[in-house]
Amino acid sequence: MRAQDADGDAGPVQVRGTVLTVRRVDAYHAMTVVAPGIAARFRPGQFVAVAVGGPDSAMLLRRAFSIHDVRPDHGGTVEFVFSASGPGTRWLAGLRSRDVLDVAGPLGRPFPVPRDPVSCLLVGGGYGSAPLFALAGKLRDRGCKVDFLLGAASGDRVFGALTARRTGRTATITTEDGSLGARGVVTDMLGQVIHEARTDVIYACGPMPMLRQVTLLARRYDLPVQVAVEEAMACGIGVCMTCVLPVVGTDGMTRMVRSCVDGPVFRGEQIRWDDVGTIPFDAVGAPGWEPRSGRLPRGGQAAAGGRAGATGPGHGARESGGSGQQARPGSPGRPGHGH
Ligand SMILES: Cc1cc2nc3c(=O)[nH]c(=O)nc-3n(C[C@H](O)[C@H](O)[C@H](O)COP(=O)(O)OP(=O)(O)OC[C@H]3O[C@@H](n4cnc5c(N)ncnc54)[C@H](O)[C@@H]3O)c2cc1C
Ligand code: FES
Repeated sequence: MRAQDADGDAGPVQVRGTVLTVRRVDAYHAMTVVAPGIAARFRPGQFVAVAVGGPDSAMLLRRAFSIHDVRPDHGGTVEFVFSASGPGTRWLAGLRSRDVLDVAGPLGRPFPVPRDPVSCLLVGGGYGSAPLFALAGKLRDRGCKVDFLLGAASGDRVFGALTARRTGRTATITTEDGSLGARGVVTDMLGQVIHEARTDVIYACGPMPMLRQVTLLARRYDLPVQVAVEEAMACGIGVCMTCVLPVVGTDGMTRMVRSCVDGPVFRGEQIRWDDVGTIPFDAVGAPGWEPRSGRLPRGGQAAAGGRAGATGPGHGARESGGSGQQARPGSPGRPGHGH
């Protein structure tokens, strides 16, 4: 793993960390691991990739989890929150204090934070709320006002409702079954919350359909939105192309961009939500794409389905200068974004 990026940011590290605690938090598990190198480098929005199953396991792929919190105890600890829904996460849920876990991180690009003290609305779906609390702390340090809008299918799956109520200027909760807060989904309440909180910028993390809908609504209100996506990942470090998404750069061109290294945080409106899971015909490097012919395909059809290896390194996000995170030029009243 690299130790230092070209721009001076410390890169990720791989550690064998001791598990401090694994505790139940409603429908989820929260795991705290001693990982000083990761804690020291962490910025909100980044994730860890965790080896699961032990040394003899057939579960070869690491599992990705957003970092919920880091603390200085024991030299530096990292906490993540997960739903024990498959073999890897069930194995994690069975770990105990003092077990050792192989963790790589922090991975991916963090949430950019405004330079100005603006009103920020943090929207979380299910365990997608987990990375928003560290972000909230950073935003408050910058003098921003923080409002929360959290939702899930049921009350026990809304992660962090109490913390949101305690620390947010406002906290609005929705559940599909009505067991906590208003009955419905977060996007039912988004317009009202934006209006009441006088929101300047939205940050969102949760299931892809929720992020898509939040982006559409943010656009209606002409608000910038930063989304942390959760695309299936295999390597987590930019080499396998499993996690690519069609993202429109500031030059108007679509590139298949790796969400593990160029994300997971993107400007919502730059993702081609309707084309996620495909390689659009006009994406740079798509079959039939020609650089000098106005980027039209020979056959004029969308490239179907598969993702891996769709764009070689020469056509990927590296050439685009990243995921196009720059603010739209000339848009009035936009808070400046920097790390
Ligand atoms: C950036 C990011 C942050 C996440 N944060 C959280 C979090 O905070 N909490 C949480 O509970 N979950 C989170 N997830 C989802 C989490 O990674 C999965 O729930 C976890 O991998 C499930 O593992 P499993 O073995 O229990 O389940 P399974 O579904 O049996 O195994 C999933 C494994 O297969 C891989 N996989 C699945 N589909 C594909 C595919 N189409 N192509 C290639 N590989 C595939 C996955 O990457 C993973 O390695 C996050 C995912 C990402 C990408
Ligand atoms: S998961 Fe391998 S490149 Fe992103």
